[in-house]
Amino acid sequence: MIYAIMAIIISYLLGSVSFSFLFGKLTKGIDIRDHGSGNAGATNTLRVLGKGPAILVLVLDVAKGVAAIWIGKSLGGDSQWVPALCGVAAIIGHNWPVFFRFRGGKGIATAIGVLATLCFLPALYAGIIAIMCIVITRYVSLGSLIFVFLTPLFLFILLYPWPLFWCSLIICILAFWRHRTNIMKLMRGEENKLGSRSSKGG
Ligand code: G3P
Repeated sequence: MIYAIMAIIISYLLGSVSFSFLFGKLTKGIDIRDHGSGNAGATNTLRVLGKGPAILVLVLDVAKGVAAIWIGKSLGGDSQWVPALCGVAAIIGHNWPVFFRFRGGKGIATAIGVLATLCFLPALYAGIIAIMCIVITRYVSLGSLIFVFLTPLFLFILLYPWPLFWCSLIICILAFWRHRTNIMKLMRGEENKLGSRSSKGG
């Protein structure tokens, strides 16, 4: 039990390392949360800092999710709950980072790492549909929401173990909560498209 709690705490701390914030500070001396959509994530890094930093942030944020599952598997024994909860903890850390006054991102890149490691096929199917949606509409937020919505649905349909389903559902709810401003903007037709600049507030 103590190892499981340790794994969850380590995962939260790992998730709390905000790479978009660090890249903003190190490359341009800015707080990314004061620019673009105000989100500390890869999409806003693309908007504010450009392609190179955005790809690096995306890879590192995905890696946080992968690492959290590994930590959960190493310290959690045979439990399926521990790695899944470690994944949720890493996403909570990314969204509300203890090191950066609890102002973080929306957790999608970290969720990709978590879900692709926990349940590869459901995440792959959801990811393909989400990417098609982004290519067609150029709304990253819409693709992100489709990804987190479809993964638990595929887990349910494909009869995956309950711990994976419940944790992916929590991940979905967290993502919808963090995207509530994007959802309002999507409904009003005001959401930023991939490649366009934005004002703060997304
Ligand atoms: O993963 C974040 C993305 O879905 C939306 O980011 O910066 O456009 O709010 P942003």
